[in-house]
Amino acid sequence: MSATQTYKIEVLKASTSKIKEVDFDNLHFGEVFTDHLFECDFKNGEWQNPTIKPYAPFLLDPSAKVFHYGQAIFEGMKAYKDDNDGIWLFRPDENYHRFNHSATRMAMPEVPEEIFMEGLNQLLKLDEAWIQKGKGNTMYIRPFMIATGAGVIANPSDEYKFMILLSPAKSYYSGEVKVLIAEHYSRAANGGIGAAKAAGNYAAQFYPTNLANKAGFQQVIWTDDATHTKLEEAGTMNVFFRINDTLYTAPTSERILDGVTRKSLIDLAKREGINVEVRPVLVSELVEGAKNGSLKEIFGAGTAAVVNPIIGFSYQEVYYELPKLENSVASQLKEKLTNIQHKLAEDTFGWTVKV
Ligand SMILES: Cc1ncc(COP(=O)(O)O)c(C=O)c1O
Repeated sequence: MSATQTYKIEVLKASTSKIKEVDFDNLHFGEVFTDHLFECDFKNGEWQNPTIKPYAPFLLDPSAKVFHYGQAIFEGMKAYKDDNDGIWLFRPDENYHRFNHSATRMAMPEVPEEIFMEGLNQLLKLDEAWIQKGKGNTMYIRPFMIATGAGVIANPSDEYKFMILLSPAKSYYSGEVKVLIAEHYSRAANGGIGAAKAAGNYAAQFYPTNLANKAGFQQVIWTDDATHTKLEEAGTMNVFFRINDTLYTAPTSERILDGVTRKSLIDLAKREGINVEVRPVLVSELVEGAKNGSLKEIFGAGTAAVVNPIIGFSYQEVYYELPKLENSVASQLKEKLTNIQHKLAEDTFGWTVKV
């Protein structure tokens, strides 16, 4: 199909809405889905039949390649409703390009921009009643693609399904987070798929994260696989460290997901006159900083939680507690970013896009 192809999206509306059954004040993240989903199939070398239809399970051949060889990628983004009922996306082009970057790495076809954006926009408009107003209310968006072609032969599928799900979400607070610094396990390696949002990257983290949970830690901060001396990222977050008055975060690489929140926080912090350094951060710097008091904050940055403060970390069996701060840089940056996302502050960066 040509780059100028215009796809017509078929819309099959649900006969009834589930919205009245939903307690919007007590949502658990990622558990409730709206009335409709978007889907589009890749067959015979073409994307075809873009459709919005009622949210429901679907059939797949048991030999579909997603089950056996793990060709599966996804994205995570959010929509917000302003006080005038306008719906906004935050940097959707970043998610779109990252999605296709992941697709290429997993030998999957790219999704045309028109299908991704038009599918998303029309789905959000159809289920707009599900997007609640007010800061802290968001619509979490989950675009994903799976290999649907049949056959237990280890080669790339020739058929795929692209879908978008919508899940209303309250602002996410995961409680006090203590982290374990990885000393043995790795989530990614040079030349691997760490920079792709591939499902297998998450499965690979579950076992070591379970071990960390049993030891009393909510998350693992991954280190470089070769030496385990450089700090990389956490489960679904990039990480920032404040030593004295400078914020540090690792450069993105083949092993680290290029987070949209991370790059937005870097720009925001610079605008606020905060000194930011993007460079490899050593575990030894963190330990040293915790010992001499120069390490002030550690926080995760990602779409779900936006900014997630970390209260302490463990390395080589020693637990280091961070100081409790009144007006942390983490909370200041979170406030500024969420105000832009919810259209409560001027978006001087041009990050917000109207649906
Ligand atoms: C492994 C990983 N790192 C970092 C992030 C943060 O990325 P973003 O800010 O784009 O949500 C995510 C979440 O998408 C992730 O899964």
